[in-house]
Amino acid sequence: MLIAANWKAYVEDTARAKALFSAAKRLAGKSGHEIVLAPPAPLLGLLARGNRSAVAFAAQDVSHTTGGAQTGEVTAQAYAAAGAAYAIVGHSERRAAGDTNALVAEKLAHALAHGLTPILCVGEQARDGEGRYLAFVRDELTSALEPLTPKERAKVVVAYEPIWAIGKTAAEAIHPTDLTEMVLYLRKILAGLLPGKGASRARVLYGGSVEPSGVRDLTAGSGVDGVLVGHASVDAKSFTALVLALM
Ligand code: PGA
Repeated sequence: MLIAANWKAYVEDTARAKALFSAAKRLAGKSGHEIVLAPPAPLLGLLARGNRSAVAFAAQDVSHTTGGAQTGEVTAQAYAAAGAAYAIVGHSERRAAGDTNALVAEKLAHALAHGLTPILCVGEQARDGEGRYLAFVRDELTSALEPLTPKERAKVVVAYEPIWAIGKTAAEAIHPTDLTEMVLYLRKILAGLLPGKGASRARVLYGGSVEPSGVRDLTAGSGVDGVLVGHASVDAKSFTALVLALM
């Protein structure tokens, strides 16, 4: 499984970042899972330098620009040069800060152009009885993938992160049955976007209050290929418990 740790802005100092990286390296060796850390940019640069471990790194976002006179922007190229292999794109916290579907599509293209594997986040704000949330998620997914070539589309990891489930506790995460349904729905949309067996091969993750206690039930049988973990990934004890729960 792919276990991606989104450190958000929780981790702000070198000592803590290094301790979490050490724990992740031990876990990667022991668990056989693919562990991807997404630290804030300067800490990613620090940890990824000379990294020869099984742990990979992800940008939390990439610039929609291609560099130049763009103060404060960090481009996909700069992340790739710093040692990132993945890039989270379209996280709901970036969308809340202004990322539209069009901007997300641009960012996706930049990430791919520089060899970063995108982790595209999609997810509804709330659920309604009429299924409008399904159309919303379909729009997020298709608007991001449609501009890409079939080969590029096949590289995208999709992270389903319902906004209503983010930053809460395991008890408020999605119900396993609802997750199973959503994963089937996402693969159905992907079947229209990816050639051949692409949709069954595509990696689909779940994110939103993934904690050690519920993670096994959430992933077993739901058809997900991994998880995107926020708050439970920035404490070595809870992250370790979470990864071990998936062994
Ligand atoms: P959470 O965050 O695990 O703290 O809910 C997940 C995310 O936003 O990626």
